[in-house]
Formats: sequence, structure tokens, C-alpha cells
Amino acid sequence: MKYYILFGPPGAGKGTQAHLLVEKYNFLHLSTGDMLRSEMKKGTELGKQAAALIEKGDLVPDEVVIGMIKSNIESSPSVKGFLLDGFPRTIAQAEILDRMLSKMESTVTSVISIHLDDSLIFERILHRAEIEGRKDDTDRTTIQHRIDTYHQKTEPLITFYKKQNKYFEIDGTGTIEEVFSKVTELL
Ligand code: AP5
Ligand code: MG
Repeated sequence: MKYYILFGPPGAGKGTQAHLLVEKYNFLHLSTGDMLRSEMKKGTELGKQAAALIEKGDLVPDEVVIGMIKSNIESSPSVKGFLLDGFPRTIAQAEILDRMLSKMESTVTSVISIHLDDSLIFERILHRAEIEGRKDDTDRTTIQHRIDTYHQKTEPLITFYKKQNKYFEIDGTGTIEEVFSKVTELL
């Protein structure tokens, strides 16, 4: 089983590339952000708790996202592979993912990191705010906080996966098609 991690800062294009990869390779796309937004839309208790954190640009607790990823992986035994988007996002999440996969006699296949500078992140997220209306996209302070959180809590994963020789970075500038061809070349 293949387990690819789509890695990168907010607005880098992880979700966009994941949708194209699903069409081409028939992988299962698991986005923790999408799962949390779906809980928020349904108005579940989990969704309400997550909303308060997401709308400030904070991360939700590790246990919450780990539980969602675990149950989705366990309930999808016959897919060709998984695209993890927005997970793991902390060292603790990455360590638990490693343990979870090793119990299944598997491992992370590779990490595809889409790099984008902070100034371009703002441009893309503010543009998306007009289309999708995500609350965490509308306010500059919240976007900056998401970027800061990425640098502090998520970027340490680069070293974590480099040590495992699984980290591959591509330039996220250029058109969606240009980025996609770099991603598929890597795969
Ligand atoms: P999440 O939904 O994962 O948000 P994110 O990481 O901030 O990433 P985005 O979804 O904003 O960006 P993306 O990289 O998918 O870019 P996209 O393809 O849309 O998480 C949201 C929140 O949930 C977190 O802040 C946290 O609170 C919580 N959460 C989620 N996972 C968690 C976890 N593991 N642990 C703890 N908390 C968690 O592209 C962006 C825009 O740019 C789009 O409009 C797109 O059309 C456009 N675009 C894409 N590519 C290009 C291109 N090449 N050229 C021009 N425009 C482009
Ligand atoms: Mg996304």
C-alpha cells in the first residue's frame, strides 16, 4: 500500500493537486481540513469544538486528527494508495502515523512538499476567500497566524522526513498544470 503525504504551507496547492492525483491514479484523498470542515457543516460536537480553533488559525488537538485518519485508513483496505493532505502537521502526529503504519507492516512511501513563499500564500488564500468563503481565509491576522503555526509546528517535519530519506520538495509557483507535472514526475 502506498502512503503519500502532500506537505506544504496553507494555500500551497495541496488540495488542488490532490484532486488531480485522485483523477489520474485513483488514490484516496484524506484531508484532515476537509474532514473537520465537514464536521463543522454537520454541526457535530467535534465540529463545534474544531470551529473555535480553526477560525483563529490554531491547530486542533493531535488526538482528534489522528482518530480521523486512523478510522479512514482502516475502513478503506482495497484502495490503490492514500494521499494524506494536511496530516501529519506536528512531530507527535508523524510519530503516531509511523507507529500506526508499522503495526500494519507498512510505512510512509514519500513526502511531496509544495514550497511557496509567504507573500504568495496570502495572495492565493485571499483569492480563495472570495470563492469558497472559508472563515479562516478572510482575515489577514488569521492567515498570518496559520503561516506562523506552519513555520513553528509543521516545518520541523522536514528534518524528520529528510532523516528517513522520504522528503521531496517541488516549487509551488507556476500554473496548476505546471505544478501537477512536477508532482507526477516525482511519483
Ligand atoms: P487545511 O484545510 O489543511 O488548510 P491548510 O493547510 O491551511 O491548507 P489549505 O487548504 O488552506 O491550502 P492548500 O494547500 O490545500 O491549497 P489549495 O489547493 O486549496 O486545515 C485547516 C485547519 O484545520 C487548520 O488551520 C487547522 O486548524 C485544522 N487542521 C487540519 N489538519 C490538521 C492537523 N493535521 N492537525 C491539527 N489541526 C489540523 O489552493 C489554495 C488556492 O490557490 C485555491 O484557490 C487554488 O485554486 C489556488 N491555487 C492552487 N494552486 C495554484 C497554482 N499553481 N496557481 C495559482 N493558484 C493556485
Ligand atoms: Mg486544502
